[in-house]
Formats: sequence, C-alpha cells, structure tokens
Amino acid sequence: MKMWAGRFSKETDARVNDFNSSIRFDSRMYKDDIEGSIAHATMLGQCGVIELSESLEIIGGLKEILADIESGRLAFDPDAEDIHMFVEAELTQRVGDAGKRLHTARSRNDQVALDIRLDLRHEIEDIKALLIDFMKTIISKAEENKTTVMPGYTHLQRAQPITFAHHLLAYAQMIKRDITRLDDCKKRMNECPLGSGALAGTTYPIDRSKTAKLLGFDAPTQNSLDGVSDRDFCVELASALSLIMTHLSRFSEEIVLWCSWEFKFVELDDAFATGSSIMPQKKNPDVAELVRGKTGRVNGDLVALLTMMKGLPLAYNKDMQEDKEAIFDAIDTVKLCVSTFNPMVSTMKTLPQNMRAAAAKGFINATDCADYLTKKGLPFRDAYKITGQIVGFCVAKGKTLETLTLEEYKGFNPIFDDGVYNAISLDNCVNGRKVIGGPAVEPVERQIELLKELLKNI
Ligand code: ARG
Repeated sequence: MKMWAGRFSKETDARVNDFNSSIRFDSRMYKDDIEGSIAHATMLGQCGVIELSESLEIIGGLKEILADIESGRLAFDPDAEDIHMFVEAELTQRVGDAGKRLHTARSRNDQVALDIRLDLRHEIEDIKALLIDFMKTIISKAEENKTTVMPGYTHLQRAQPITFAHHLLAYAQMIKRDITRLDDCKKRMNECPLGSGALAGTTYPIDRSKTAKLLGFDAPTQNSLDGVSDRDFCVELASALSLIMTHLSRFSEEIVLWCSWEFKFVELDDAFATGSSIMPQKKNPDVAELVRGKTGRVNGDLVALLTMMKGLPLAYNKDMQEDKEAIFDAIDTVKLCVSTFNPMVSTMKTLPQNMRAAAAKGFINATDCADYLTKKGLPFRDAYKITGQIVGFCVAKGKTLETLTLEEYKGFNPIFDDGVYNAISLDNCVNGRKVIGGPAVEPVERQIELLKELLKNI
C-alpha cells in the first residue's frame, strides 16, 4: 500500500512501480537520509511542532534502523519507491504513530535536495583525499627526477629541454586546481534546503536555522522554490569531476606514449600492465587507456545533468530523479580511476637515459643557440634566422648543434666563439631557465615547496 494511496482508487501498475522507483540507486544515501531525519525530528521536538517524547522515539527508531542497515540485519526493500519512503515506512513499523509524525513540515522534495547535498559533501571529501594522495605521489616522483633531462614538446615535436620533474609537476598544478575547485563547489552547496517543503515552505513554526546548523550547513537556502529545484551543485561537481578526468586523461595519453618502444621513457610495473591474448611480447598500458576512455563517460554524466535541467519549470519535477545516477556514476568513476592511476604512477620506472637521448636529438637547444647570439649583441630576429640556417645545414649534413665545428659556426657568423658549446649543452639549457615556473632545479624546488605548503593547509 502506497503512503499516498488515499487519493487513488487503483493499485499502481507494476511497470510504473518499477519505472518510478529509485531505491536501486538512492539507497546509498541511507545514512544521509537518516541523519537529515534525525535533525528534522530534533528540531520539530524543540520547536514544539511534535511532542518532545515523540521526537525522541523517532530519533531512537532512526538510530536503530541505521545500525540495522550497517550490520546487514535490515535489507532495502526493492519494492520501496525510494530511500525516503523506505526509511519512513520502516520507522512507522518500529515506533508506530510517532513515526507517522516525522514527515510533518517536510516534503520528499526538500528531503531529497538535502540528502544529495549531504551525500556529495562526503564524496567531495573522499575525492579530495584521493587527490591529495595522488599529488604526494607526483611530488615524490618529481623529487627523484629534478635533474632528469627530457625533451619538452609542442605539437608533439621536440621543442626545448626540460626535466621529468618539471613535466610531472605540471600535473600537480592541475590537481591543485582540482582540489580547490572541489572546495569551492562544496562551499556553494553548503546551504540547507530543509524547510522549503514541497515548494512553498511551510506554515508550521519550524526553525530552519536550527536544522541547518545541526547538519553543518552555513545557512538555510533563501528561496523555497529554488531550494527544492536547484541542482546546480550536481552540475558544478560533475564539471569539476570532468576536469579531473580530463587531467588524468592527458596524463594517461602521455603514459601510453612514454611506454611505447618509440619513446621508452618509462616502464610500467608488471602489476600495473596487462598482456595480450595472442602477442607474447606485449605489455600494454590498459589502466591508462581505460582512464582515458572513462573520461568520456564522466563527460557524458555532466552533459546528462545539464540536459536534464535544461528547460525544467520550477519547482520540483520528476526528471530530477535522474540526477543521482549521473552524479553517482561520475563520482564512482573518478574514485576508481584516481585510486588505480595513483599506484600505477608511483610504481612506474623512469628511464632517464632514454629521456636524455631523446633530448639530445631534434635540435631542442636551437633556441638557446639563438639566445647565445642575442646575448652577444645580435638582435633576436637575426640570431633566430642564423640559427635556422645552421639547423638546416645540420639536417642536410646529418650533424647536430653539438657536433658542428667552431669553423662551421663561424662560417655562419664570425661572432661565434667556443662559448657556444656551453650555451647549448642540455644541462645548461635547462638550468639557465631559472625564471619562476621554469625547469631549472631552483624553481622546481620552489614549486615543490609551495605545493607541500598547500598540502599542509588543506
Ligand atoms: N525519488 C525522488 C527523487 O529522487 C524523491 C523526490 C520525490 N518527490 C516527488 N514529489 N515525487 O527525486
């Protein structure tokens, strides 16, 4: 029998029951639902909307239900309409009439809006913790590779020399933004919709500030229509999660490249690579590829949420029940990806000789040759042109800037002296770039220091 059966003269069609029910995916919010109900019952009792004794009975019953779910003694009823109905029905069964008073001055609309917020608040903290761990992995790998010279790329063409530490730390910067974005998103979602009722608030003398405070919110929401129909916080979180996946996906792509024979900059640990069913020689970076693939899935969740909300009239509409599967899927996917990606990176072996060998080819010190001429007094554009001619000459002769003789250099411009070899040595090219944010050891160490400080304060 439905709680709302009074108005109806027929049983709901079984297909509609199944179609309408959300218990399959909202039962995971049981703790939040119970926590919200305890706060609501506490407030109702304190404000005299229900008897204090009834409020205590309700709270006792809810605590028992929570304990029974956690211990496995109580299973979710798959026929329940949703987690809210399930808990309320169970409560009424356990404490009788007092249970029937819990829903006074409340609607499932403000209840569900509350539950999702409570749930996402926890999830944000869990994801933050995973990202913090991942950032620590990146930092410690960077610390081991402050002098590991590798080519930096633009257009995937060798461009200028950097270090592996510097390259890795670019991802630490992305994770830093991801963490602070999550904080941001949490701040904005931290308003309590409870008391918005179905859409128009309530006539009972409730204390919305009290429930907001009991549940750790900064304040009650200020408009009852918006309180029940806002899902911005789901969209915001989904978009922060999409960006996390975008970062992991770019990192994945690089790892896939780096472990190919064409690069061989890193080797994945055997525990984090997979084989082929037919090619005995294969060691595949499946984890990185799957993370890259799952990025599409999380982006899909974001688009699903945006599309679901687009054009919905105020206030609550059943369309909004679709919010949970999308946001939960995005959350679960991100957690799964970060917690598998992190140990893959921490166990991956760096191959510094191969990185250096790659950096020694491809004229990645050509800019430094031009800068050398500029520092000797030539205008940069002239220096750039001369260096271009030198590179062209080297390509034609199968030489590199390092193997060109001083005579040959002088042939292009008499200003050259043997200081050029110093200027174009890979280590000097890297360590000359001491500018803030540059790849030289000092700025990299500074970067690490700042990231560690940030970690201490979050
Ligand atoms: N299961 C519903 C949801 O997730 C709860 C709110 C139902 N409200 C309603 N008026 N039917 O959105």
